[in-house]
Amino acid sequence: MNTQALIDIANALVADGKGLLAMDESSSTCRKRFVEQGIEDTEEMRRAYRELLITTPRLSDSVSGLILFDETIHQAKKDGTPFVEVIVKAGMIPGIKVDLGAKPLAGHPGETVTEGLDGLRARLQDYHRLGARFAKWRGVINIGDGIPSTASIAVNAHALARYAALCQDVGLVPIVEPEVLMDGAHSLARCSEVTEKVLHAVFAELNIQGVLLEGMLLKPNMVTSGADSAEQADVHAVAAATLDTLLRCVPAAVPGIAFLSGGQSPALASAHLNDMHQGRVLPWALTFSYGRALQQPALNAWNGEAANVAAAQKELEQRAALNRAAVQGRYTAGMEPK
Ligand code: 13P
Repeated sequence: MNTQALIDIANALVADGKGLLAMDESSSTCRKRFVEQGIEDTEEMRRAYRELLITTPRLSDSVSGLILFDETIHQAKKDGTPFVEVIVKAGMIPGIKVDLGAKPLAGHPGETVTEGLDGLRARLQDYHRLGARFAKWRGVINIGDGIPSTASIAVNAHALARYAALCQDVGLVPIVEPEVLMDGAHSLARCSEVTEKVLHAVFAELNIQGVLLEGMLLKPNMVTSGADSAEQADVHAVAAATLDTLLRCVPAAVPGIAFLSGGQSPALASAHLNDMHQGRVLPWALTFSYGRALQQPALNAWNGEAANVAAAQKELEQRAALNRAAVQGRYTAGMEPK
């Protein structure tokens, strides 16, 4: 393991107030987003959409790295230039989602375990050869009546740590993503309690399995009220609860934390991130690794039409710049496009 190389990549991904663009939707998730929008779902349309995202002018002013899906990392621009080459030339770092999805957990209705550990070392080596320098694995935790169970937290934490150790062995920086879903009517306090339990379990497993904390990043959920809760915590309460929880659980040796957006609107995801950067001294860089909250305005503007590419790219550039402003604590609602 080249420890210094891992540390350098992890730090580069969270430097200068930049964050990550998660564009690693599986083909079935991408289909879902296209269908919602009335966009035809073909491999060529997915390629065209990903080309639009990757070639967005000035994206690298705000984005350090892009998380790709297996199909995408093998694709190229219309002119034949491989996407990986385009990303590197633009000064960004290519990454890859390597888990094979959350599958039903035996004996635990309503809960999942993320699969993909079998044969993972060889797949990671292939991705490294293709140019990826970091990876992502998402464990999913559901809040509900009597859940999450101890079992679902334990198996997902274990898998995340096994994945992270393998990544570091082959020279990829692991992004460790334990996502506590927003789905449900639970309170902010309940989300905080579950997130804390999950993060403690994850860092205990990372420690058992010898993962180098300096050479990884954490991608957690923010601590929010459940999406269906009648009582929605305000921006400041979400920011405060999220920071309190992370400060209790995430060792200072971890160079950076990059949030998922989890279904928050683009503006709210920026506002929350900005509020976390109002003067509290933090031991790690704190940034974004949004999927929907970065892509949605661009996807709406594109709508599957080649004529809309420039307008869609403008939306993505703007959204990324607003999130960089949030990381610098200078985002305001007034900066939102009218
Ligand atoms: P969202 O920001 O849309 O939650 O996606 C981030 C991600 O990578 C989920 O795994």
